[in-house]
Amino acid sequence: MKRIEIINGPNLNLLGRREPEVYGHRSFEDCLTELRRQCPGVEIGYYQSNHEGDLIDRIHAVGFDVDGIVLNAGAYTHTSIALHDAIKAVPAPVVEVHISNVHQREEFRHHSAISAACRGVICGFGLDSYRLAIEAL
Ligand code: DQA
Repeated sequence: MKRIEIINGPNLNLLGRREPEVYGHRSFEDCLTELRRQCPGVEIGYYQSNHEGDLIDRIHAVGFDVDGIVLNAGAYTHTSIALHDAIKAVPAPVVEVHISNVHQREEFRHHSAISAACRGVICGFGLDSYRLAIEAL
């Protein structure tokens, strides 16, 4: 059985309540239940933190063991060289994910500090972006 870890960054704990016109009305817990049903051959772990260092610690903790990481780094996507380095430090392939199409939004969301370290990027398909990333891995 393949092991994939989903890591969500800051403010994604508020999914379903946060800017629903951008991020939708579903909680991530709800989405996770559906993902596990849709991908029965994959053991899906989940971690969320609002703190950059915690996200780095989690990448270190699982990145030598799992078959892949699906990472929505939230706003740290656009700023964090430390996350870029953490992704490069582990052998597990990382897929960068965004719920919204960041390229249709404010210009400060157009740059990603982590894309170059990731295996690929999926954005703009709502919560379905996570399933597409798991399928890609
Ligand atoms: C996001 C896009 C980011 O720009 C934003 O800061 C988020 C969520 C997305 O999933 O669309 O927190 O990563």
